[in-house]
Amino acid sequence: MTHQPQAPSRPLAAPLGLLAELTHRCALGCPYCSNPLELEARSRELGTDEWRRVFSEAARLGVLQIHLSGGEPALRRDILDLVRHCSAEGLYTNLITSGVGYKPELIRGLADAGLDHVQLSVQDIEPGEADRIAGYRGAFAVKREIARQVIEAGLPLTINAVVHRANVDRAPDLVRMALEWGAQRVEIAHTQYYGWALTNRTLLLPPRDAALRAIAAVEALKAELQDLIAVDHVLPDYHADYPKACMGGWGRRILNVTPAGKVLPCHASEGIPGLTFWNVSEHGLAEIWQDNPAFNAYRGTGWMQEPCLSCSRREIDFGGCRCQAMMMTGDPAATDPVCKLSPHHARVAQALAEEQPAPDKNEYVYRRLTVSNSPKRTPG
Ligand code: SF4
Ligand code: FES
Repeated sequence: MTHQPQAPSRPLAAPLGLLAELTHRCALGCPYCSNPLELEARSRELGTDEWRRVFSEAARLGVLQIHLSGGEPALRRDILDLVRHCSAEGLYTNLITSGVGYKPELIRGLADAGLDHVQLSVQDIEPGEADRIAGYRGAFAVKREIARQVIEAGLPLTINAVVHRANVDRAPDLVRMALEWGAQRVEIAHTQYYGWALTNRTLLLPPRDAALRAIAAVEALKAELQDLIAVDHVLPDYHADYPKACMGGWGRRILNVTPAGKVLPCHASEGIPGLTFWNVSEHGLAEIWQDNPAFNAYRGTGWMQEPCLSCSRREIDFGGCRCQAMMMTGDPAATDPVCKLSPHHARVAQALAEEQPAPDKNEYVYRRLTVSNSPKRTPG
């Protein structure tokens, strides 16, 4: 099914945040990484001046927050320069980091350069298992030290933990660990099945009862610890009745710039055929936000089909996730099959029923930069 992209009703609100994927390079190999399977090589990354221009344009467009991401953004040699520039532009700057592959002392330099916040990923509470999931021996210990440096530098810390079959029973322990490490916020995010997570879905999907137990335990902690730590809980899509408003709605709140400068409405949107994504080397950021047909393709509600079109939730969840609709139905304009009202909803139950792994099978396909779909490095 096809539809014509519609021009937005103007004026268009400014995006709230820009996710800058500075590089796809990363020391870890997480099997649920949301980066695309075809990662961009270092030689294709935007240079320092190009990123500085992008950040200046973002500030003029009205963007308030820059999320420096990757891959591992701190592997960029110009990271201090880029943070300094964002700070000079008055942008709130958040480093989304694995904590691995650079000297922990860099955190102090980043704080001095004007960094506002650090979001650190953690794979598990148990070091050996955390290292196995990350595909990197010693990762947990390094992360612990980075957390210490962040607190010492006086920066607010968020711990991010992706939950899946291997660690689902320890989801509440991850909240307690984040508190112990001095975090102000912890994000417990059940795996979303795009990118590498889709490749590893069989091994990552937790049994329904384990997922429900984890949800109840984390929600209870959220209430119990509300005066001590903020708990953001990203619920598992496949077990929900209604989908999430993916990206806060397509082309509504967030811009995603890839290492090579392509601007996407969401990190996985390159999987949707027929969309052309403009590059910051050829177009200004404001022009892309306003006029790139890829951004206008699923903006608002005019593109929707039934049952979304006449649904009272259409401006709450915006029909769910376009990438998931594409992956599960072949039609990016379909209602997200996670929605219980979708005519394709049975496919979710089918995926849950079919994708239970043999108990002894635990060989992830680790993410890696150079060769897709082969294990990167296993600790041990
Ligand atoms: Fe959301 Fe569409 Fe489902 Fe309504 S029918 S709840 S708008 S996904
Ligand atoms: Fe792309 Fe949801 S991941 S719209």
